[in-house]
Amino acid sequence: MDRTTGTHNALTLALTPLATAMPLPRPLPPVHHVAFAAALLWGASGSAMAQSVERGAALYAAHCSSCHSPDQHGDGPAHRGVVGRRAGALKDFDYSPALRASKILWTRATLKAWLTDPEALIPGQGMDYHLDDAQDREDVVAYLATLKRLPAAVPAAR
Ligand code: HEC
Repeated sequence: MDRTTGTHNALTLALTPLATAMPLPRPLPPVHHVAFAAALLWGASGSAMAQSVERGAALYAAHCSSCHSPDQHGDGPAHRGVVGRRAGALKDFDYSPALRASKILWTRATLKAWLTDPEALIPGQGMDYHLDDAQDREDVVAYLATLKRLPAAVPAAR
């Protein structure tokens, strides 16, 4: 984290004289640099991960898409940006009181626990579904992690 922030600051400093000389778009907030660096690393990390994501996407289509989609609510809430978000956090989805009141942060680990047994993780929740197979859970969560929140605009090439 510190190293990335340091890089960002150095970059911002390096760009500052330029930015004052001409009306460049405002520098992106650090989170975009981190996400971009993560995407580069992720892209370089070989095919096992890509295979897991691909399999996860197929499992998602088969098992989750009757109730969920990345960008639209169905019986279940939309999933884009779910990794890193609080459980029950979307304002316009009608969650169960139990899910909304839970203090859980969705990480790969908590998502795998949720998909193993939602009721064990959050008693009183409203999702009547789980996945029996650990590899299936692993792959579906790998796929969920690719559903990044979309940046407002695609940054120009530097
Ligand atoms: C039969 C419908 C149904 C299916 C199938 C289903 N879900 Fe859900 N899901 C729900 C409902 C309903 C909720 C909201 C539960 C609540 O409010 O307690 C939910 C909530 C969630 C949440 C919490 C999201 C948030 O914003 O806090 C995640 C994550 C999730 N589901 C993942 C999945 C995945 C992955 C699959 C496929 C393996 C899946 N669900 C299959 C109905 C479903």
